[in-house]
Amino acid sequence: MIRFEHVTKRYPDGTTAVDDLSFEVARGELVTLVGPSGCGKTTTMKMVNRLIEPTGGRIFLDGEDIAAIDPVQLRRRIGYVIQQVGLFPHKTVLENTATVPHLLGWKRGKGRERAAELLDLVGLDPSVYGDRYPEQLSGGQRQRVGVARALAADPPVLLMDEPFGAVDPVVRDHLQSEFLRLQEAVDKTVLFVTHDIEEAVRLGDRIAVYGQGRIEQFDAPAAVLGAPATPYVADFVGADRGLKRLSVTPIEEGDLEQPPVLHLDDPLGRASARLAEEGARWAVVLDSDDNLHGWISTDRTGASGTVREHARRMEAWLPVGASLKQAFATMLQHDAGWIAVIDKEETGRFLGVLTPARLHEALRRSIDADVRAVPRTEVELETVSKVASA
Ligand SMILES: Nc1ncnc2c1ncn2[C@@H]1O[C@H](COP(=O)(O)OP(=O)(O)OP(=O)(O)O)[C@@H](O)[C@H]1O
Ligand SMILES: [Mg+2]
Repeated sequence: MIRFEHVTKRYPDGTTAVDDLSFEVARGELVTLVGPSGCGKTTTMKMVNRLIEPTGGRIFLDGEDIAAIDPVQLRRRIGYVIQQVGLFPHKTVLENTATVPHLLGWKRGKGRERAAELLDLVGLDPSVYGDRYPEQLSGGQRQRVGVARALAADPPVLLMDEPFGAVDPVVRDHLQSEFLRLQEAVDKTVLFVTHDIEEAVRLGDRIAVYGQGRIEQFDAPAAVLGAPATPYVADFVGADRGLKRLSVTPIEEGDLEQPPVLHLDDPLGRASARLAEEGARWAVVLDSDDNLHGWISTDRTGASGTVREHARRMEAWLPVGASLKQAFATMLQHDAGWIAVIDKEETGRFLGVLTPARLHEALRRSIDADVRAVPRTEVELETVSKVASA
């Protein structure tokens, strides 16, 4: 979808901002550009919509050399979110969002309708926020308007230059998860610049780690963290990359332990005898569909009746495929020695439990796998096909 071929940008004063850059971003892929200040990230982005012209090499959009596309036409196909959001202070949120449709000459009603739809999509109720002015919004809300505005003309490509740079970590975390959900629905090809390796890892299908004007490694997040291509990349992703890996390693079924299982309608007497026999101090409790209900401990199993009356609800659970980081956070949050893992949130079929020891093993497995066979920078470009769930 976006292809750089030996692209160089040398400014008149002799600064080489981007040096012989070649890479490709597949349709529907989200690539994060990460690197220190001044390494050429913004320059890379602005060459895509021709706000900056390269001094060497070529850039293709959907197979077309962009040098041959009229810049105004080109920019209609590319949404652009800049770091300081750049909302018009004297226009309302709705008018700001409808800017591009307005420029494209859409009928006023249609533009506003589309703007309202998009505000809704980014989590801002248009009937509440539509008529406000940017100064009447929080930083996070302004960022969302920026994203809605970039999506307004439904461009296939989005350029986002540190779109969540100006908000505090909590809001940022929230915007990131919202953006991931949004991306599932709209399925754009995205170049996303950030200073923050955590953000790059969380959002990117692949990450381009920049050194000075060059890409040092272009790989899946797990590979960048697991097997940095150069000492520079290792240094950049940091000594705590084992910790960061938690966020890119999913819980797999093979990681789970199988504790004793009881059903809600089991008589308590028999249940407690079984637990004693197995030497277990607790069991997972399922309903008649084998969906997770909760758990029961042996100190409750002496009484009469059924498991139902004595089972406790289970708060600490996650769907399979959630990250090890989420698992760890869930354990801490509920002060739990283990968490239940279910097949997916809607059905809740119980698959097993994840213990700290199993979590550690899963992390080891993921690191070992990458160290053995890591795709390096010359890796075949894989197309990320996502199911649009809009
Ligand atoms: N108009 C210009 N003239 C000369 N040098 C420039 C110009 N614009 C940018 N540069 C230089 O090009 C290099 C890359 O700049 P760029 O804005 O792409 O960096 P960046 O990676 O986006 O940095 P940051 O993370 O701080 O935003 C820097 O050294 C910068 O000083
Ligand atoms: Mg920049």
